[in-house]
Amino acid sequence: MLALITGASRGIGESYARRLAARGYALHVVARDAERLARVAGEIRAAHGVAVEEIVLDLAQVDGAERLYADVRRRRTDPVDLLVNNAGFGLYGEFGDMPLPRIQEMLVLHLLTVTKLVRLFLPEMRERRKGAVINVASVAGLLPLPYLTLYAATKAFMVSLGDGLDVEARKHGVVIQTCCPGRTATDFHATAGIKYYWAPGDQQTADEVVDESLAALERGQSFVVTGWRNRLLNRIQKFVPRRVVLRTAERLLRP
Ligand SMILES: NC(=O)c1ccc[n+]([C@@H]2O[C@H](COP(=O)([O-])OP(=O)(O)OC[C@H]3O[C@@H](n4cnc5c(N)ncnc54)[C@H](OP(=O)(O)O)[C@@H]3O)[C@@H](O)[C@H]2O)c1
Repeated sequence: MLALITGASRGIGESYARRLAARGYALHVVARDAERLARVAGEIRAAHGVAVEEIVLDLAQVDGAERLYADVRRRRTDPVDLLVNNAGFGLYGEFGDMPLPRIQEMLVLHLLTVTKLVRLFLPEMRERRKGAVINVASVAGLLPLPYLTLYAATKAFMVSLGDGLDVEARKHGVVIQTCCPGRTATDFHATAGIKYYWAPGDQQTADEVVDESLAALERGQSFVVTGWRNRLLNRIQKFVPRRVVLRTAERLLRP
């Protein structure tokens, strides 16, 4: 079994890599930070004795997905059984102040690369009637969030994409899981420029998120909100008027 994991140099992606290796998966791990990726890959090889191939690549380039697909093909390994579209980052603050290059990187990484990678790897999975994709979205994709507006919009795209694709792919024996974590203790907030905010819901570790996602995948579950408080909040907010949700989110997230 082979898993391809984007953003595996740290955080949630690193946890997917370690957990999947423990289940016997060989891995292709992708990120930009070569040194960090090599350290994670080395530790996984030593701990689990599985093959781990490092692919150093910036997936926020418009041709990132094609380059990754070509790189995987060149390696002539087994077909990819599980694609984990995890690489991502946050942008916090007023949209009007955000640098255009960062906006483009986010749109390419979260929309274009995710979409293309599913499109590129899905046909082989369909053909074998075997395989799965995990798209790591967010609870931010389940409601609009002022000051995380663009981030939340890209994650909403991933939620919608995953829901529809799963229905199509099931007929071919392939599962597309959309995983929606809430606040998770990783470098994500520092990278996004978020110092502190209080929000209802869970604060989970990356391992807790990944354990829930993989357990759900084993049950064939295509949509998972991790953390019971996050699940509860997701239920409740459906009954709250949208303007109340937005006003509350604005107050909690205001820089
Ligand atoms: N932490 C949270 O609270 C939270 C909550 C909900 C959803 N999520 C989602 O979970 C996913 C993982 O985030 P995390 O919390 O684990 O954050 P993280 O610790 O900052 O890790 C992000 C990972 O993505 C990789 N990455 C970022 N930009 C990349 C690029 N252009 N090309 C290739 N790899 C790239 C990073 O590696 P390099 O820097 O080495 O490239 C790193 O491995 C993201 O999609 C995020 O939106 C996070």
